[in-house]
Amino acid sequence: MLSPVDDALHAFILALPKTETHLHLEGACPFELLQKLDPVKYAAPPPFWADDFRYRDFEQFMLLYLEYCAAFFTSAERYHEAAKIVLGRCAAQGCRYVETSFHLPALAFLRESGPEVIRAIRAAAPRGLEVRVFAGVSHNDYTGAARELIDDCLAWPELDGIDLHGPEDLPVEPWTDALWARARAAGKFTKAHAGEFMPASFVDLILDRLQVTRIEHGVRSIESAATVARLLRDNITLDVCPISNLKLAVRGVPTLSAHPIRRLFDAGVAVTINSDDPFFFGNTLADEYHALHHHLGFSRSELIRVAANGFRAALLPDHVKRTHLADLARLSAELACAG
Ligand code: ADE
Ligand code: ZN
Repeated sequence: MLSPVDDALHAFILALPKTETHLHLEGACPFELLQKLDPVKYAAPPPFWADDFRYRDFEQFMLLYLEYCAAFFTSAERYHEAAKIVLGRCAAQGCRYVETSFHLPALAFLRESGPEVIRAIRAAAPRGLEVRVFAGVSHNDYTGAARELIDDCLAWPELDGIDLHGPEDLPVEPWTDALWARARAAGKFTKAHAGEFMPASFVDLILDRLQVTRIEHGVRSIESAATVARLLRDNITLDVCPISNLKLAVRGVPTLSAHPIRRLFDAGVAVTINSDDPFFFGNTLADEYHALHHHLGFSRSELIRVAANGFRAALLPDHVKRTHLADLARLSAELACAG
């Protein structure tokens, strides 16, 4: 328990209409599915669920990613099975809108096509939950069979967008700029991880070169007043994952209380909160809201504002966004009356 138990707050958080816009499907792999596959290996809960667990570095995290999860996603049916549980859990926590990504190059090892896999993920969405599916690629993926997939995916109607993820310190190769521009021209939404392990200057580089309006993490932007001013000026949303940042020992996050989301929020930056890779951090979306309240002093009305940022950033028609935002505004007004 990273935050103390508070039943009344928990009920409030669950009832809050929410979004999850930074969720890696492989990193959310349900433990029960791994246990079914290999009950001996997965007899005990993984050590990284302990509150005091910290990854040594991103490399260790990636190695565990390969060991635990990559092995599970061997068919469209497996993506469907995992997505059914993952998206069901999102809905059960009051989530109304989810953006989930999968690692695109992994599809090179599957019998099924990319569109078949995406349809399998989409078909797992419970009623009432809007789901958008993103293809994740790493900085150095544009080679071999993955290169073909990366070029092809922009023509898949099932795909909503692309995301740059993986080790952040690898060079951003020249194909990336062209691909991100081509993706937008093809009607896909584009986002990118930055400012998790690399400094604010890398957030600037990604904004300059990839022209995205959504940054995954972006928390190290706080190290530069100019970068924060740019986020504000250009209305860039940061999809922040506080518990992930804590467990991955991101610079500036020795504790949840030190997390820069408080300062970014107070500066007026549009921040959302998300669980990133719940299998690897042992977290839920509700835990992220609890953490903001207990460790960073976010009031209930501030939690409502964070939730609203998610709907503003969502790939939803304006009239649908307005409905969700009106629900949140009503909750906020009720709070003001009660308080
Ligand atoms: N892929 C899965 N989780 C990630 C993270 N936290 N940063 C970059 N790439 C990732
Ligand atoms: Zn991520």
